[in-house]
Amino acid sequence: MPATHEHLIGLLLGAEEDWPTAFEALTRRLGPVTAPDGARHAVSTERMTIEPFNLRDKPRHDLVIDRLAHWYYHPREWLKKVALMDDVYLLNSPFTFQSMEKHAAYCALMRLGMHVPETVLVPYKNPVDNARWAFTSAKYNKSFDLDRIAEDLGYPMYMKPFDGGAWRGVSMIRDRDDLHRSYDDSGEMLMHLQQAVDGFEVFARALTIGPETMVMKFRPDEPMHNRYAVEHGFLSPAVGSEAVTIAQTVNAFFRWEFNSCEMLVKDGVVYPIDYANACPDVAVTSLHYYFPWAMKALLRWSVYCLATDRKPRTQVDTTPWFAVADDESLEYSGKLAAYQRLADDYFETERYREFCDVALPHIDEMVLEWVDSDDFRKLLTSTVQQTYPPHEWDRFEAHFGGLVGLWLSDEKSRIGAGESATDEAAIGGPAPAVPAE
Ligand SMILES: Nc1ncnc2c1ncn2[C@@H]1O[C@H](COP(=O)(O)OP(=O)(O)O)[C@@H](O)[C@H]1O
Ligand SMILES: [Mg+2]
Repeated sequence: MPATHEHLIGLLLGAEEDWPTAFEALTRRLGPVTAPDGARHAVSTERMTIEPFNLRDKPRHDLVIDRLAHWYYHPREWLKKVALMDDVYLLNSPFTFQSMEKHAAYCALMRLGMHVPETVLVPYKNPVDNARWAFTSAKYNKSFDLDRIAEDLGYPMYMKPFDGGAWRGVSMIRDRDDLHRSYDDSGEMLMHLQQAVDGFEVFARALTIGPETMVMKFRPDEPMHNRYAVEHGFLSPAVGSEAVTIAQTVNAFFRWEFNSCEMLVKDGVVYPIDYANACPDVAVTSLHYYFPWAMKALLRWSVYCLATDRKPRTQVDTTPWFAVADDESLEYSGKLAAYQRLADDYFETERYREFCDVALPHIDEMVLEWVDSDDFRKLLTSTVQQTYPPHEWDRFEAHFGGLVGLWLSDEKSRIGAGESATDEAAIGGPAPAVPAE
């Protein structure tokens, strides 16, 4: 028997316990896999600790899934070191996420011809904390009429930080009073003013891991446990595949591997509004029905990257994308098709599908069995108990248990009908995650 290649996945974690436990359990159950080239690969996981490191230390990890470095800078600097020096594969690279925040993502998608709502960046409300500010601003800050800008955009609109996340500092602006109050409150934050997509029909949130996308119906006004609605076919097939393409375009363009993209749909037009969400929330208490899919996609993509020795790419190459964007002979739909091809190239979608079919043929049954097990039930119970106060335990256990139960019965009939692993996203979202062959 050929030698088995050992690979270690590092998990860089914050406060969460649920999905890492799930991911660890599934990795253990998976065992060694045989790639299409006949080589055997064994994958294990380890939670990373934060400790001093010498910049020349050799890491033991081959791939790291990061949910911490966006706010904790010591491990973020370790990620940069292992990306530059050791070719460790990262979900996601801090290079692109540090330099390419929400604002940069708006700019890129506008150039690619997507329907990003009109957006204006206004200067800081308060002085910048720098000895040179007073002189510089007196000399160069041009006075501007905030009301004029707002009137040109039209009410209602949103004011939100240029590098936003987690709804920090976001407010809806309905009139002049809101406008001035929010701008005064913005203080040291740098703000966008963005036209509201008023009266949108659907809020679609697309979670993408490698080449797999699940487009889910999102209800931003609900509490966290109720935001993702379980609804199939809530978008027409055309709008559904447009949503998939937009999400995959953002990720392939910026080299993001694990991200969520928020889009508003109104009168058949898809407006992307927020799509720089590094390593997004995948808690069982928010994803519920979609949690098994997310864990499976994370496992499939990690194993694929390790077993095929996929090389990390930390730098963005805008050239092929802008060639499509600037091609005047192409309509929007032609551009979308070209972007999807570029995204498929970047994520090696065809090779990935083949790999999943050959090396991971039993992953569906394995995940199904685990979600149906006492282990999973215990994980759900302890997550509910860590997340909610005791008087809500029964209610939430029943709520999430019910939604996961629904997934179990849907999954059993899907597998019974002989649908392939990668067709699964067609169930949760409106379109196959990976374009059908
Ligand atoms: N242009 C917009 N039109 C309609 N709703 C918006 C718009 N921008 C933001 N929102 C609402 O505000 C919420 C937070 O804004 P978002 O850009 O997603 O910020 P964050 O990065 O903090 O999540 C969105 O989920 C959506 O409900
Ligand atoms: Mg958002």
